[in-house]
Amino acid sequence: MKNILVVTASIFGQNGQSSQLVERTLTQLRQTYGNIRITTRDLAAEPVPHLDASRFGAFLASAEDRNGEQQRVVDYSNSLIHEISDADIIVIGVPMYNFGIPSGLKAYFDHIARAGVTFRYTENGPVGLLEDRPVYVLAARGGIYAGTPNDSQTPYLRSFLGFLGLKDVHFVFAEGLNLGDEQKEKALRAADRNIETLTA
Ligand SMILES: Cc1cc2nc3c(=O)[nH]c(=O)nc-3n(C[C@H](O)[C@H](O)[C@H](O)COP(=O)(O)O)c2cc1C
Repeated sequence: MKNILVVTASIFGQNGQSSQLVERTLTQLRQTYGNIRITTRDLAAEPVPHLDASRFGAFLASAEDRNGEQQRVVDYSNSLIHEISDADIIVIGVPMYNFGIPSGLKAYFDHIARAGVTFRYTENGPVGLLEDRPVYVLAARGGIYAGTPNDSQTPYLRSFLGFLGLKDVHFVFAEGLNLGDEQKEKALRAADRNIETLTA
Protein backbone atom coordinates (compact mmCIF):
# COMPACT_ATOMS: atom_id res chain seq x y z
CA MET A 1 0.00 0.00 0.00
CA LYS A 2 1.40 3.38 -1.03
CA ASN A 3 0.10 6.61 0.45
CA ILE A 4 -0.08 9.27 -2.23
CA LEU A 5 -0.55 12.96 -1.51
CA VAL A 6 -2.05 14.76 -4.48
CA VAL A 7 -1.85 18.55 -4.61
CA THR A 8 -3.70 20.28 -7.44
CA ALA A 9 -3.41 24.00 -8.04
CA SER A 10 -5.38 24.71 -11.22
CA ILE A 11 -7.96 27.48 -10.84
CA PHE A 12 -10.15 25.18 -12.97
CA GLY A 13 -10.03 22.51 -10.30
CA GLN A 14 -10.12 18.96 -11.59
CA ASN A 15 -10.87 20.21 -15.15
CA GLY A 16 -7.45 21.85 -15.38
CA GLN A 17 -4.92 20.28 -17.73
CA SER A 18 -2.44 19.90 -14.87
CA SER A 19 -5.11 18.16 -12.75
CA GLN A 20 -5.86 15.81 -15.64
CA LEU A 21 -2.17 14.97 -15.95
CA VAL A 22 -2.22 14.26 -12.22
CA GLU A 23 -5.17 11.92 -12.79
CA ARG A 24 -3.22 10.04 -15.48
CA THR A 25 -0.25 9.78 -13.13
CA LEU A 26 -2.50 8.24 -10.48
CA THR A 27 -3.78 5.69 -13.00
CA GLN A 28 -0.17 4.82 -13.74
CA LEU A 29 0.75 4.61 -10.05
CA ARG A 30 -2.23 2.30 -9.50
CA GLN A 31 -0.88 0.02 -12.21
CA THR A 32 2.62 0.14 -10.76
CA TYR A 33 1.76 -0.38 -7.09
CA GLY A 34 -1.68 -1.98 -7.15
CA ASN A 35 -3.00 -0.74 -3.89
CA ILE A 36 -2.72 3.03 -3.35
CA ARG A 37 -4.38 5.36 -0.86
CA ILE A 38 -4.90 8.90 -2.13
CA THR A 39 -5.17 12.08 -0.07
CA THR A 40 -6.22 15.03 -2.21
CA ARG A 41 -5.46 18.66 -1.51
CA ASP A 42 -7.32 20.67 -4.16
CA LEU A 43 -6.16 24.24 -3.66
CA ALA A 44 -8.97 25.65 -5.85
CA ALA A 45 -11.74 23.88 -3.92
CA GLU A 46 -10.18 24.65 -0.54
CA PRO A 47 -7.76 27.58 -0.86
CA VAL A 48 -5.02 28.04 1.70
CA PRO A 49 -5.10 31.63 3.02
CA HIS A 50 -2.27 33.93 2.01
CA LEU A 51 0.40 34.25 4.62
CA ASP A 52 0.24 37.54 6.50
CA ALA A 53 2.01 38.97 9.52
CA SER A 54 -0.50 37.61 11.99
CA ARG A 55 -0.36 34.06 10.57
CA PHE A 56 3.43 34.18 10.42
CA GLY A 57 3.42 35.53 13.99
CA ALA A 58 1.49 32.41 15.01
CA PHE A 59 4.26 30.24 13.53
CA LEU A 60 6.86 32.15 15.54
CA ALA A 61 4.99 32.21 18.87
CA SER A 62 6.08 29.57 21.37
CA ALA A 63 3.51 26.87 22.11
CA GLU A 64 2.80 28.19 25.60
CA ASP A 65 2.35 31.80 24.41
CA ARG A 66 -0.05 31.14 21.51
CA ASN A 67 -3.58 32.47 21.80
CA GLY A 68 -6.53 30.47 20.48
CA GLU A 69 -6.43 31.97 16.98
CA GLN A 70 -2.68 31.45 16.71
CA GLN A 71 -3.12 27.84 17.81
CA ARG A 72 -5.72 27.32 15.07
CA VAL A 73 -3.29 28.70 12.48
CA VAL A 74 -0.52 26.38 13.71
CA ASP A 75 -2.88 23.37 13.84
CA TYR A 76 -3.90 24.04 10.25
CA SER A 77 -0.28 24.31 9.09
CA ASN A 78 0.59 21.15 11.05
CA SER A 79 -2.25 19.27 9.35
CA LEU A 80 -0.85 20.24 5.92
CA ILE A 81 2.62 19.12 7.01
CA HIS A 82 1.28 15.81 8.38
CA GLU A 83 -0.28 15.09 5.00
CA ILE A 84 3.13 15.37 3.40
CA SER A 85 4.97 13.47 6.14
CA ASP A 86 2.50 10.58 5.84
CA ALA A 87 2.87 10.32 2.05
CA ASP A 88 5.15 7.80 0.34
CA ILE A 89 4.80 9.70 -2.93
CA ILE A 90 3.75 13.30 -3.65
CA VAL A 91 2.09 14.28 -6.92
CA ILE A 92 1.68 18.00 -7.67
CA GLY A 93 -0.19 19.56 -10.59
CA VAL A 94 1.40 22.90 -11.50
CA PRO A 95 -0.16 25.20 -14.09
CA MET A 96 1.86 28.16 -15.29
CA TYR A 97 0.04 31.41 -14.61
CA ASN A 98 1.66 34.72 -15.51
CA PHE A 99 5.12 33.18 -15.67
CA GLY A 100 4.97 31.67 -12.23
CA ILE A 101 3.30 29.08 -10.04
CA PRO A 102 -0.36 29.69 -9.06
CA SER A 103 -0.67 32.00 -6.07
CA GLY A 104 -2.72 29.30 -4.33
CA LEU A 105 0.23 26.92 -4.51
CA LYS A 106 2.53 29.61 -3.15
CA ALA A 107 0.14 30.16 -0.22
CA TYR A 108 0.24 26.40 0.43
CA PHE A 109 4.05 26.41 0.31
CA ASP A 110 4.07 29.36 2.74
CA HIS A 111 2.15 27.20 5.21
CA ILE A 112 4.40 24.14 4.99
CA ALA A 113 7.74 26.00 5.27
CA ARG A 114 8.14 26.12 9.04
CA ALA A 115 11.45 26.72 10.82
CA GLY A 116 12.08 23.93 13.29
CA VAL A 117 9.38 21.76 11.70
CA THR A 118 10.14 21.26 8.00
CA PHE A 119 13.56 22.94 7.91
CA ARG A 120 16.13 24.27 10.31
CA TYR A 121 19.12 26.53 10.09
CA THR A 122 22.53 25.13 11.01
CA GLU A 123 26.01 26.64 10.93
CA ASN A 124 26.39 24.96 7.52
CA GLY A 125 23.20 26.49 6.16
CA PRO A 126 19.58 25.34 6.09
CA VAL A 127 18.67 21.65 6.36
CA GLY A 128 15.38 20.16 5.20
CA LEU A 129 13.58 18.09 7.82
CA LEU A 130 11.18 16.18 5.56
CA GLU A 131 12.32 12.69 4.69
CA ASP A 132 13.05 12.47 1.00
CA ARG A 133 10.53 10.63 -1.20
CA PRO A 134 9.51 10.81 -4.85
CA VAL A 135 7.74 13.97 -5.94
CA TYR A 136 6.13 14.05 -9.38
CA VAL A 137 5.40 17.49 -10.80
CA LEU A 138 2.93 17.68 -13.67
CA ALA A 139 3.44 21.03 -15.34
CA ALA A 140 0.89 22.47 -17.81
CA ARG A 141 1.75 25.54 -19.84
CA GLY A 142 0.23 27.55 -22.65
CA GLY A 143 3.66 28.34 -24.12
CA ILE A 144 6.99 26.52 -24.31
CA TYR A 145 9.62 27.18 -21.66
CA ALA A 146 11.26 23.96 -20.41
CA GLY A 147 15.04 24.23 -20.50
CA THR A 148 15.00 27.99 -21.19
CA PRO A 149 15.69 30.89 -18.80
CA ASN A 150 11.97 31.75 -18.93
CA ASP A 151 11.11 28.56 -17.05
CA SER A 152 10.99 30.16 -13.63
CA GLN A 153 8.92 27.31 -12.20
CA THR A 154 11.31 24.36 -12.47
CA PRO A 155 14.31 25.84 -10.61
CA TYR A 156 11.99 27.43 -8.06
CA LEU A 157 10.21 24.16 -7.32
CA ARG A 158 13.50 22.26 -7.08
CA SER A 159 14.88 24.90 -4.69
CA PHE A 160 11.80 25.09 -2.52
CA LEU A 161 11.14 21.35 -2.26
CA GLY A 162 14.87 20.67 -1.78
CA PHE A 163 14.95 23.24 1.02
CA LEU A 164 12.42 21.07 2.89
CA GLY A 165 14.41 17.89 2.15
CA LEU A 166 12.52 16.72 -0.93
CA LYS A 167 15.19 16.22 -3.57
CA ASP A 168 13.83 13.29 -5.57
CA VAL A 169 11.73 15.54 -7.81
CA HIS A 170 10.63 14.50 -11.31
CA PHE A 171 8.98 16.78 -13.85
CA VAL A 172 6.61 16.05 -16.70
CA PHE A 173 5.83 18.99 -18.97
CA ALA A 174 2.81 19.50 -21.19
CA GLU A 175 3.76 22.64 -23.07
CA GLY A 176 2.37 24.73 -25.88
CA LEU A 177 -1.19 23.91 -24.85
CA ASN A 178 -2.37 27.28 -26.19
CA LEU A 179 -0.47 27.02 -29.47
CA GLY A 180 -3.17 25.29 -31.46
CA ASP A 181 -4.89 21.89 -31.41
CA GLU A 182 -2.08 20.04 -33.13
CA GLN A 183 0.60 21.20 -30.69
CA LYS A 184 -1.75 20.58 -27.76
CA GLU A 185 -2.43 16.97 -28.82
CA LYS A 186 1.25 16.38 -29.43
CA ALA A 187 2.19 17.81 -26.02
CA LEU A 188 -0.43 15.77 -24.17
CA ARG A 189 0.64 12.55 -25.95
CA ALA A 190 4.28 13.23 -25.06
CA ALA A 191 3.32 13.95 -21.45
CA ASP A 192 1.40 10.66 -21.31
CA ARG A 193 4.42 8.76 -22.55
CA ASN A 194 6.61 10.47 -19.96
CA ILE A 195 4.13 9.66 -17.19
CA GLU A 196 4.26 6.00 -18.19
CA THR A 197 8.04 5.79 -17.99
CA LEU A 198 8.25 8.02 -14.92
CA THR A 199 6.30 5.75 -12.61
CA ALA A 200 6.91 2.36 -14.29
C1 LIG B 1 -4.53 33.42 -15.62
C2 LIG B 1 -3.70 32.63 -16.58
C3 LIG B 1 -2.40 33.00 -16.81
C4 LIG B 1 -1.61 32.28 -17.69
N1 LIG B 1 -0.31 32.63 -17.87
C5 LIG B 1 0.49 31.87 -18.67
C6 LIG B 1 1.88 32.14 -18.81
O1 LIG B 1 2.43 33.06 -18.24
N2 LIG B 1 2.61 31.35 -19.63
C7 LIG B 1 2.05 30.29 -20.29
O2 LIG B 1 2.77 29.58 -20.99
N3 LIG B 1 0.74 29.99 -20.16
C8 LIG B 1 -0.04 30.75 -19.37
N4 LIG B 1 -1.37 30.43 -19.22
C9 LIG B 1 -1.88 29.23 -19.89
C10 LIG B 1 -1.83 28.05 -18.92
O3 LIG B 1 -0.52 27.75 -18.51
C11 LIG B 1 -2.46 26.82 -19.55
O4 LIG B 1 -3.81 27.13 -19.85
C12 LIG B 1 -2.40 25.61 -18.63
O5 LIG B 1 -3.17 24.57 -19.21
C13 LIG B 1 -2.95 25.95 -17.26
O6 LIG B 1 -3.02 24.78 -16.46
P1 LIG B 1 -4.43 24.29 -15.90
O7 LIG B 1 -5.26 23.97 -17.14
O8 LIG B 1 -4.09 23.07 -15.11
O9 LIG B 1 -5.02 25.39 -15.10
C14 LIG B 1 -2.16 31.16 -18.37
C15 LIG B 1 -3.50 30.80 -18.11
C16 LIG B 1 -4.26 31.51 -17.24
C17 LIG B 1 -5.67 31.09 -16.98
